[in-house]
Amino acid sequence: MPTVRDLHAKAGSEPITMLTAYDAPAAEIVDEAGADVILVGDSVGNTDLGYETTLPVTVDEMASRVGAVSRATEDAMIVADMPFLSYGVDESESTANAGRMLKEEGAHAVKLESGPHTVDLTEKLVQLGIPVMAHLGLTPQHVNQYGGYPRQGTTQEAADRILELARDHEDAGAFSLVLEHVPSNLAADVTEAIDIPTIGIGAGPDCDGQVLVFNDAVGLTEWSPSFSKQFGDVRGEMMAAVEDYVSAVEDREFPAEEHSHEETDLEDLY
Ligand code: KIV
Ligand code: NA
Repeated sequence: MPTVRDLHAKAGSEPITMLTAYDAPAAEIVDEAGADVILVGDSVGNTDLGYETTLPVTVDEMASRVGAVSRATEDAMIVADMPFLSYGVDESESTANAGRMLKEEGAHAVKLESGPHTVDLTEKLVQLGIPVMAHLGLTPQHVNQYGGYPRQGTTQEAADRILELARDHEDAGAFSLVLEHVPSNLAADVTEAIDIPTIGIGAGPDCDGQVLVFNDAVGLTEWSPSFSKQFGDVRGEMMAAVEDYVSAVEDREFPAEEHSHEETDLEDLY
């Protein structure tokens, strides 16, 4: 698996590739396709759990997904996203929640939506041996303050604050930084200003790497943000397969002769 050091080295020569995954089959695909990092994002709340935001996602739900992903992954680095209020409230609770992802579920690092309240925590986790990926710009756990998911860092003051927080988290020991939905020129400035790799989503081409939500990238979601790209039409493929199945059963075309066995030992079934 690529270590924090490998990622840093790669950032100097080629773009880092990161994609989310939330279960074993997706993790297997992302890993085999050669992505450097798998992020088990709290976006699982939207993609898989049917929530409208990421806020309801629990530590247990994340732990279950991180375990599934880590059991299916051979090469990629696995980063566990820490859900809303699982960090930053109480230090020992934050540490236990983050530690669980490494100690019990097989993650190699955690990601925290960063702010002034995560600088000391980042330092503490890193001291303990838990690598931290920081996350600035649009931090979706603040949806109730934003009233939606608007682009961040669009005023000089807001841009300066993001740059300052990026430096603070680098100093605290974060090994990389996700920049979400910020102007490309700000992402370029931050990337230039800090030594740790930046990984962008909706942050233009000048970051050290890129990340997308798996379901958006493969075309499984019906809607995806304008900064995303559908590289496939998995939803269409799945729909066609399921429709074919339903009509084949209704038309008594499935199961056919070759799927049927008159006499068999149980063990021949599989
Ligand atoms: O939860 C997630 O998928 C994320 C990425 C969009 C960075 O935090
Ligand atoms: Na997230």
